[in-house]
Amino acid sequence: MPTIYLDQAATSFPKPPCVAARMAEYLTQVGANVNRGVYGAAQQAELVELRLRQRLCALLDFADPTHVVLTPGNTWGLNLVLGGALHPGDHCIVSGMEHNAVMRPLQRLAKQGVTFDRIPCDGEGFLDLAALETLFRPHTKLVVLAHASNVSGTVQAAAAVGRLCAAHGVPFCLDAAQTAGHLPLSFRELGLSALSVPAHKGLMGPQGLGALLLAPDFAKALDPYITGGTGSASDSEEQPDYMPDKFEPGTPNLPGIYGWEAALAFLQEIGVEAVRAHDEALSRRFLAEIRDLPGVRLVGPADPARRVGVFSLDFVGQDNAEIAYRLEADYGIQTRCGLHCAPAAHKTLGTFPRGTVRFSTGWFTTESDIDAALAAVKALTAT
Ligand code: ALA
Repeated sequence: MPTIYLDQAATSFPKPPCVAARMAEYLTQVGANVNRGVYGAAQQAELVELRLRQRLCALLDFADPTHVVLTPGNTWGLNLVLGGALHPGDHCIVSGMEHNAVMRPLQRLAKQGVTFDRIPCDGEGFLDLAALETLFRPHTKLVVLAHASNVSGTVQAAAAVGRLCAAHGVPFCLDAAQTAGHLPLSFRELGLSALSVPAHKGLMGPQGLGALLLAPDFAKALDPYITGGTGSASDSEEQPDYMPDKFEPGTPNLPGIYGWEAALAFLQEIGVEAVRAHDEALSRRFLAEIRDLPGVRLVGPADPARRVGVFSLDFVGQDNAEIAYRLEADYGIQTRCGLHCAPAAHKTLGTFPRGTVRFSTGWFTTESDIDAALAAVKALTAT
């Protein structure tokens, strides 16, 4: 039985073949560290790292490669922002659809005197812009928002949130875990102060790597949450205050950097617009059949234009975990069930603590994968 991977929201698979090839090339033929040697291999690695930053600028419509901070992942990037920007007495605004990558750092900061409010969201997960307007306080220091939900695929009106933040003079950080590489994204047009992305989802790279793009004024004000050796200013025991060294202590994930740079070249060749068109076509195909299917409840938007390819289903009257098991055991279909590290989103959507079975798509998902998933869901809900 062939395997059908529909857990692209957890991590994308397969990767473009160039990713593994470039990672192997680094490990077997380059091997040198960056910022720490003046020999040829070290300089070659530095050039690849620079090309990666430049590709991220091009893909995310961002001006300055020196303000692209390479992180060990999206959770790390979000922690850099939350932990560096919020201090006791500060207030933060998030939505009712956040992942624990935001909520756990925020709950930890709350124990130190940071307060926060959640923007209410409707039954499809869309935030209420009028309610957001009422949540700003004089001591609000940050708004953080999941661009698309990892539970329901709901895409938020980030540009409108950016305009409100600008009007109130509050920095705006976007968590693009489920949209980077899936949707055309413009740092500039969204009015962002910070944008955090993982390498390993829509941006097709390896795990354990991400990027945090910082607006210059925000980067200047942000405390470095993690400090250490950078290979620069080695005469000083203080963290450098220039970019990107301020936020990049320690040896980076160089095999990952080689692999991600190759992945982004592949993605730029396809074009994010083509990925989005593919995503939307698959969504339309899946939603057309699922929407009115008895025995299953679709959680989140029914409109393909307002979502990404992340579909949570509640198999009414059945055990969702048992369904996920049977999907793989009987049909070879790999999904993710449960609460998806996002209890707040499940509470908003009315699926807490029961959870859902999540099907998620990517560039390498085909129409026949969707048809196989639909046939399996129909079989499992037939009475
Ligand atoms: N946050 C990722 C997911 O939704 C890992 O599965």
